[in-house]
Amino acid sequence: MTTIQGVMFETLKNDYQTPLYIYDENLIRSQCQLFIKKFRHPRVKSGVIYASKAFLTIGMAQLIQSEGLNLDCVSQGELYTALKAGYPASQIVLHGNNKTKEELLMALNFKVGTIIVDNDYEAKILSDIVDEKHIVRVMLRVNPGIDAHTHKYIKTSTLDSKFGMSTLDPKTLDTIQLLNNHPYINFVGTHSHIGSQILDENSFYDHAKTILTFYKLIKDTLNIELTDVNLGGGFGVKYLKTDERLDLSKVLPSLLDVVYQTANRLELKVPHVYIEPGRSIVAEAGYTLYTVNQIKETINKKKYLFIDGAMNDHLRTALYQAKYDAFIVGKSNDQHDTNYTVAGKACESGDIIIEDIMLPEVKANDLLVVKSTGAYHYSMASHYNRLTIPPVVFVKDGQVKVIVRKESFMDLLSHDEALD
Ligand code: LLP
Repeated sequence: MTTIQGVMFETLKNDYQTPLYIYDENLIRSQCQLFIKKFRHPRVKSGVIYASKAFLTIGMAQLIQSEGLNLDCVSQGELYTALKAGYPASQIVLHGNNKTKEELLMALNFKVGTIIVDNDYEAKILSDIVDEKHIVRVMLRVNPGIDAHTHKYIKTSTLDSKFGMSTLDPKTLDTIQLLNNHPYINFVGTHSHIGSQILDENSFYDHAKTILTFYKLIKDTLNIELTDVNLGGGFGVKYLKTDERLDLSKVLPSLLDVVYQTANRLELKVPHVYIEPGRSIVAEAGYTLYTVNQIKETINKKKYLFIDGAMNDHLRTALYQAKYDAFIVGKSNDQHDTNYTVAGKACESGDIIIEDIMLPEVKANDLLVVKSTGAYHYSMASHYNRLTIPPVVFVKDGQVKVIVRKESFMDLLSHDEALD
């Protein structure tokens, strides 16, 4: 691969330098459309909400709006970005555990479409600040205790999770009653998210069945029939050539069918179903372009390939032992006969981008492209060692658009104050 959307990697390096985050804009758009078109069922109302924590900038919020998805924000910063992008507040869902009163007030004042309350404590804070001028649609985050097969750091639905209230906890029903009885809260249902990078489709179906069984309990004990349900995100993506991709064309309609069948079986009204994909919208559309700086062989014959970025722009390997594929621009037909460990320039032994990858023999100034870096890379980047965070470009049909400008050293200092 020497080009992306008709643009040469060499040209991108010359025009924007490295490291550089590159997105195939057409691929993000086609993923959005895949979700919109396949998350449909003739008898179930449905909606897709993009989880912006995966990747959000002003341009990205505008893209999401133009593709017709709703937007999930989890902080004032994400909310501010979306509003500055002109994204309509009424289509925003405000999430997040541990929300402050200020965040809730900001959401109410901007008339954010939905607030997802995390727990009983937060439900009380919100109940105290809503009034007749700030009537709001609310869901409660619940935790159905589904053990999704994914890394423990990105599981969210174990019984002791910091997110949401357990469906087994009697306090959860009390909180639902409190929210439902409030005159200025339009309580419509629950939200739950069982984890991220889930590749077993059955986890999604089990999740839906468990939540509807909980809806049945709510109906039987509280006499409340909930009209909406949000089943979160978590759809896994392909990082390595050998990974199986979750077949979204099959899983998305099947998930709605499971909701439909289960609601009928339990004699419930079929709720309006929402999902919140983040990673699966952007991960595979993203590439990180680096220049090889140095190559070093240790006394044990381990070969390091040092690139001009670091864990700062690629945290997932250090944090979750995530695995990535990469290629050297222009050398894909060469023999891949050398084992390298790709590492960065941060002062940290864990600053590894890829441990053990077979590549052709690499020379300084070669270009290395790491694949599937579109989700949770730019959004988790840091300034450790005072490295600058790479700029972001979108490429589409031979055209390049800068979505985030390159940071300067002045940008790095822009909040520092002298001691005297
Ligand atoms: N909805 C809620 C409430 C969430 O907490 C998340 C992700 C999503 C939706 C989107 O999940 P996705 O479709 O992207 O899997 N930094 C980690 C991922 C953390 C995910 C947190 N919540 C990583 O890089 O793997």
